[in-house]
Amino acid sequence: MKLWSGRFRKETDALVNDFNSSIQFDARLYREDIEGSMAHAAMLSRQGIISAGDAEKILAGLTGILADIEAGNIEFSADNEDIHMNIETILTQRIGEAGKRLHTARSRNDQVAVDFRLYLKRQIGEIRAELLHFQQVLLDQAKQHTETVMPGYTHLQRAQPITFAQHLLAYANMFCRDVTRMEDCMARMNECPLGSCALAGTTYPIDRFATAAELGFDRPMNNSLDGVSDRDYAIEFLSDMSILMMHMSRLAEETILWCSWEFKFIDLDDAYSTGSSIMPQKKNPDVAELVRGKTGRVYGALMSLLTTMKSLPLAYNKDMQEDKEGVFDAIDTVKMCIPVFAGMIETMTVHPENMRAAANRGFINATDCADYLTKKGMPFRDAYTTVGNLVYYCQENGKTLEDLSLEELQKISPLFEQDVYEALRMENCAMNRASFGGPAKTETERQIGVIESFLKERADEA
Ligand code: ARG
Repeated sequence: MKLWSGRFRKETDALVNDFNSSIQFDARLYREDIEGSMAHAAMLSRQGIISAGDAEKILAGLTGILADIEAGNIEFSADNEDIHMNIETILTQRIGEAGKRLHTARSRNDQVAVDFRLYLKRQIGEIRAELLHFQQVLLDQAKQHTETVMPGYTHLQRAQPITFAQHLLAYANMFCRDVTRMEDCMARMNECPLGSCALAGTTYPIDRFATAAELGFDRPMNNSLDGVSDRDYAIEFLSDMSILMMHMSRLAEETILWCSWEFKFIDLDDAYSTGSSIMPQKKNPDVAELVRGKTGRVYGALMSLLTTMKSLPLAYNKDMQEDKEGVFDAIDTVKMCIPVFAGMIETMTVHPENMRAAANRGFINATDCADYLTKKGMPFRDAYTTVGNLVYYCQENGKTLEDLSLEELQKISPLFEQDVYEALRMENCAMNRASFGGPAKTETERQIGVIESFLKERADEA
């Protein structure tokens, strides 16, 4: 019999029963549901709303149910619709009358909202820890390549010399923002909806501050309607996960390019690559491709929840039961992607010689050549045109800028002197870019220091 069957005179249609129930996916909220119920029951008893004896029975009953769920000894039923009614029903079966008092001054509307927030807070903590570990992996690679010269690209065309460290650190900086985005999301989410009840609070003398504190929230939510109506915290979380996946998909894409024969800047470890069923020579970057591909489903979860919530009148609507599956899927996806991606980056072999060879072609020291003339007194715009002509001349003659003789150079500008060859050396071009945030070793080392303190602050907290 349904908990709410009093008002009804007919059984629920069997199809409707399945259609309506969410236990297949919200069972994973069992721990948070029990935590929330325990805090609620303890508060009810402290406030004299239920007796201390009933509260004790409820707490003991819930403790037993938690243990039995974790031991795999409990089967939930679609007849009881969702995790909240499943647990309440089992509790009442086990402890009788006292179980029926648990739902005093509460509704499934505030119950699901508190469960979902508790669950997300826990998950954000775990995802953040994975991401911090991944950043350490990136830093360890970057440290080894502060002098590894490679071409930096714009439009996927070779542009200017940088180092591999600078390239990896660009991502590490993005991931720092992903971490702080999660922290911001967590801070905003850290208010407790419990006690909003169905929508309009309650006439019982409940203590929302006490339950909020017991459940680890900063404070109760300020408005009972808002407490049960909004899912912005889940949408914000999915936005953060989408941005994180977007960043990972870019590094995934570059990893795929870098391990192709066209680049060969890196090789992936055998343990992080896969073969082909027909082409014996193939070694494919499936891990990177899957991270790139799975980005789509995380975006999908975000779009789906935004659309579910669009135009919903206050307060709770059953549409909102659709908030969970996408979020769960995004969590599972991100939690798989980060550690496998970290392992791939940690074990890859870098080929500095191929990066250096790529830097040799493509005139990526042309800006440095123009800067050379500018430093000798030529206005930059004229130097830019002069070097443009030089590049044209080089292309016609199959040469690089540094292949040109001093005579050839001086024909274009008398400002060229012997020291131009030093100015054009790729290593110097990269190492002299010592402006704040640049690829010079001094600067990449500074960046590494900044991110190391970022990681250390968070490790110390934990
Ligand atoms: N299973 C429901 C959900 O996930 C719980 C809240 C149900 N509330 C209600 N009034 N039907 O949204």
